[in-house]
Amino acid sequence: MEYPLQTEDLTKYFDGRTPAVNDITLSVRPGEFLTLLGPSGGGKTTMLRLLAGFEIPTSGRIQIGERIVADDSHFVPPEQRKVGMVFQDYALFPHVDVAGNIAFGLRESRQEREKRVKELLALVGLSAYATRMPHELSGGQQQRVALARALAPKPDILLLDEPFSNLDTGLRAQVRTDVRNILLETETTAIFVTHDQEEALTLSDEIAIIFDGHLVQVATPHVIYNRPINRQVAKFVGDANILPADAHGMTAASQLGEVKLFHARQGPVDLMIRPEALAISYDERGIPATVLWREFHGHHQRLGLALADGTQLIARTGVDRYFGRGNEVRVSLALPALAYDRVN
Ligand SMILES: Nc1ncnc2c1ncn2[C@@H]1O[C@H](COP(=O)(O)OP(=O)(O)OP(=O)(O)O)[C@@H](O)[C@H]1O
Ligand SMILES: [Mg+2]
Repeated sequence: MEYPLQTEDLTKYFDGRTPAVNDITLSVRPGEFLTLLGPSGGGKTTMLRLLAGFEIPTSGRIQIGERIVADDSHFVPPEQRKVGMVFQDYALFPHVDVAGNIAFGLRESRQEREKRVKELLALVGLSAYATRMPHELSGGQQQRVALARALAPKPDILLLDEPFSNLDTGLRAQVRTDVRNILLETETTAIFVTHDQEEALTLSDEIAIIFDGHLVQVATPHVIYNRPINRQVAKFVGDANILPADAHGMTAASQLGEVKLFHARQGPVDLMIRPEALAISYDERGIPATVLWREFHGHHQRLGLALADGTQLIARTGVDRYFGRGNEVRVSLALPALAYDRVN
C-alpha cells in the first residue's frame, strides 16, 4: 500500500538534552483520520510542525506520498509540501473577507478561484457569508472558514492542531462533528492533535499516543481503550482501576475474588479494570463494598466504592437502579481483566 504519509525515526531536539520528538516511526493510511493524543508538552505540535515543514528534523525521515520531504539530504519547504494546516486560533486574515481568506492559497485563474471558493463555502455551509469579515463570524463559523481555507488548494494531508479548543462545549461538539463529516466527504487524510481523550476516542480512525516525545501506542480507539499497552495509557484515556493479583493461567486471585484474564499470565500482576466492567448489585453475588460517592450523568452513574480492606474502586453503571452514598452493595467483575507486569 502507498501511504500518504510516513515518518521514520523522526527526532527533533530544540536543546541538546531532551528531544521534543523522539524517534517516531508512523504511517498514515489513505483517507484516515489519525489523532495524536498526549499530555501537554509531549511533542504533538512539534510533530505537526515537522510534517508541515515549519521545523527541520534533527534526524529521521518524512515521506509524503512517494516524495521524501525531509531527511539528511532533502528539505522541501512548507509551500511545496501539499499539506494544509488548521490551528487552534484559526489565524484568519482579519482585514480580508471570508471569500478572500478561502482564496488565499489558490494560484489558479480568477475564474477557477471563484469556482473553488464557491464549492468550499457550500462544503462548510457558509455560502451566505462570502462577504462577511472574520470579526462578524462566530467562533464555530471562523473555524469552518479556517478549514475551508486549508482544504482549498486540495492538500494531500490536512493537519489540525487542537482546532476546537477555543470553542465552548456545546458548539465544540457540533463543529467537530461538522469537520469530521466534511473530511469524510472529501476523503481527506488528516492528522489531528488533541489532549482531550474523549475527543480522540469519538472522532478518530486511529489514535497515536505520545508521551514525552515517544510514540507509545498506535491503534483504533477501541483497542486503545480496552487494551492499553501500559498503565500510563490506561489512565490517560479513561478511569482505570489498578488491582494487584496473583495470576495462574487464564485466571487470577484478587480482592474481587477469582477473576478471568484476557491473556494467560503467571505470578504477580496488576489488573486493569474499566469502571463499566464492574457489576454492582444488592444481591448476594460478589464482594461486599460501600458506596463512597455517586455522580449522576443522566445516561449513567459513576460510583466510588470501598471494599472491606479499604481498597477504592470506580464503577460505572446504568441508571435503572439507584445506588446512593453509604449503600452496602456487592461488586463483581463482569468482563475479563487486562493484566500488566507488577511494578513496585
Ligand atoms: N520553538 C521551541 N523552542 C524550544 N523548545 C520548544 C519549542 N517548541 C516546543 N518546545 C518544547 O518541546 C516540547 C514539546 O512541545 P509541543 O508544543 O510540541 O507540545 P504539545 O504536545 O503540543 O503540548 P500542548 O498539548 O501543550 O500543546 C516542550 O517541552 C516544549 O517546551
Ligand atoms: Mg501543542
